Amino acid sequence: MQIHTAIASLRAARAQAGRVALVPTMGNLHDGHIALMREAAKRADTVVASIFVNRLQFGPGEDFGKYPRTPEADREKLEAAGVAHLFAPDEAVMYPRPQGYHIVPATGQADILEGACRPGHFRGVATVVLKLFNIVAPDLALFGKKDYQQVMVLADMARELALSTEIVAQDTIRAADGLALSSRNKYLSPAERAEAPRLYRQLAVLADAVRAGARNYTALEAAAIEELQRHGWQPDYLTVRRRIDLQTPQRTDEALVVLAAARLGTTRLIDNIEI
Ligand code: PAF
Repeated sequence: MQIHTAIASLRAARAQAGRVALVPTMGNLHDGHIALMREAAKRADTVVASIFVNRLQFGPGEDFGKYPRTPEADREKLEAAGVAHLFAPDEAVMYPRPQGYHIVPATGQADILEGACRPGHFRGVATVVLKLFNIVAPDLALFGKKDYQQVMVLADMARELALSTEIVAQDTIRAADGLALSSRNKYLSPAERAEAPRLYRQLAVLADAVRAGARNYTALEAAAIEELQRHGWQPDYLTVRRRIDLQTPQRTDEALVVLAAARLGTTRLIDNIEI
């Protein structure tokens, strides 16, 4: 695997790489990331992974400083997954001066759910992802559906700005007990780790009820939130939305997703299930 820290070096390699798939990450790679790398390899001649902990998408008081950084273990995992190129720039390469130009995702899409809880988050995500696209010029880029709203924001950005990169969404990879894999699971104490799958279980209960015909979303959401609270969680939201735009569904909408974000101790977890 070639490791590039400079934009020019990555671009030189890209010129010979044929059809390129990019998997953007913030590192601390787990099996969810590796599944994206393997899918990328099936769809392209060359896989480029990027690792960059993007300051722009963290709010004040969020975990930018303590976000787990494990460069050596990450490199070994990428080598083992057969990734050809790793782009791992320093902050001075990505942001040689404070970033003055930003991508501002559409209102109504980026300021709900995660965007409401983390103001400016999707602006930071969209800005760094467009910058990575401009550096790597990938034919496609793969993202995990655990960050459901992120995928929607990026797919809409690609469509509205006529980017030539195809956005590919892949299913969430889970631990055997259902917990969605996430770098932030590292923050959980053993007791919290044992409790953490409840988030997925509550989403599954709600999804099953809706699949069985229930349409009283507000009551179902309230019951799931209460169950989490009874077990020490502080939910930010747990809500049924339309897949297409993450707005509140009408009774006739059929393509739905239930999404949640909740804090367990000091760790904030997110998850979702398509219904
Ligand atoms: O999903 C992530 O890890 C990040 O939001 C991304 C897409 C790499 C942008 O920094």
